[in-house]
Amino acid sequence: MTIKQKQTPLITIFKQLIVVQNNYRIYSEDHNETQKSIVLLIDLLNDLAKIQDEVDFTYISDQWLLAGYPAQEVNMYAKNLADAFSQRNFARLRIFLPTNEDCIASLNMFLNEKEYEQVEKIGFEIATVSQAKNEDLEKNYIFNNEFKKSYNLEQISVDHQVYKDVKKIYDEGSNNKKINVAAAKEISKSFVDAFSQARNPLKYLAEVKFEDEYTYVHTINVSLLTMALAIACCVPKNLLNDVIFSALMHDVGKLMIPNEILNYPGRLTGNDMLIMQSHALLGAQYLAKHNDMPKVTIIAALEHHLDFNGGGYPDLGISYRPHIISQLISVADIYDALRSNRPYRKSMPNAKVLSIMQEESGKKLNPALTETFINLVNQWQ
Ligand SMILES: [Fe+2]
Ligand SMILES: [Fe+2]
Repeated sequence: MTIKQKQTPLITIFKQLIVVQNNYRIYSEDHNETQKSIVLLIDLLNDLAKIQDEVDFTYISDQWLLAGYPAQEVNMYAKNLADAFSQRNFARLRIFLPTNEDCIASLNMFLNEKEYEQVEKIGFEIATVSQAKNEDLEKNYIFNNEFKKSYNLEQISVDHQVYKDVKKIYDEGSNNKKINVAAAKEISKSFVDAFSQARNPLKYLAEVKFEDEYTYVHTINVSLLTMALAIACCVPKNLLNDVIFSALMHDVGKLMIPNEILNYPGRLTGNDMLIMQSHALLGAQYLAKHNDMPKVTIIAALEHHLDFNGGGYPDLGISYRPHIISQLISVADIYDALRSNRPYRKSMPNAKVLSIMQEESGKKLNPALTETFINLVNQWQ
């Protein structure tokens, strides 16, 4: 069973628990709405009782874990419950199955009443942060054996399967042949599945060892960073695959740029610079020739070197505002470009990269996205 399959019923139950909690606070325990929501919660829990004997909801480092894995999409619904957990130093709630009205009533009192310590815990258990830490939850929750086995994250390097697959897509796409869109979408989807739970994406950024690797290694790094930023900005899950696919394709126009210019060991000037810059427009034109190409992917390839304040290339006029997804990719793009070794300059240390990004906030880069991104990188450090 995949993580997603395990989490799906838990997400439904978790959302219903939040509805119950909100009703309990807004109305009262015996109000019709509260009672209806409790009945539905009990039904959902007892449905699950056919296959498991407890459910647990864990809250660690501002993150909800369902079935032991981070569940990003519930964060925005769960503010009241998160507040109740953090105020009381709770980390883990276990509800034993099957459950009944008495259990849910005591759970509601426990989560919502001031005198919660007096409430008898019927059919559930709650662990505080220090108890949960004793269980080594924080250290182990993401890299449990199953996760390692499925995706081999710990051994990620440029030899990892995802790099081989993306290289193949790029190799096949060169010489003006078409990209296998279905295969590329499949890769970005499995990429989302593999990496969306990574707590520290910086750990997985690959280093370019050979110059001809740069485009696809950079492309994967940008996809990983874009995904983290997109999740932090609450980009809806149904758009995430297209966003990551767009990040994967953003520099595809470089396939049309001669290698002597791509790998030129110095700053490009004059006509060579213009040829290099044409990768944005060439990439968009190239992608537009493909069937099933998401519009946003074509737009992002065209716009990823446009500045927030109207500069950049190609020149689309000072009042032109790039699509928000292009702006998101630009932030990730600049971070990875500056931290990478290039033929014309050495890689920069993280602090220097972040200070350049800060300097460009509101100019080249969208300030809100830049701030979110810098906060994320500081968290990951
Ligand atoms: Fe680019
Ligand atoms: Fe790029």
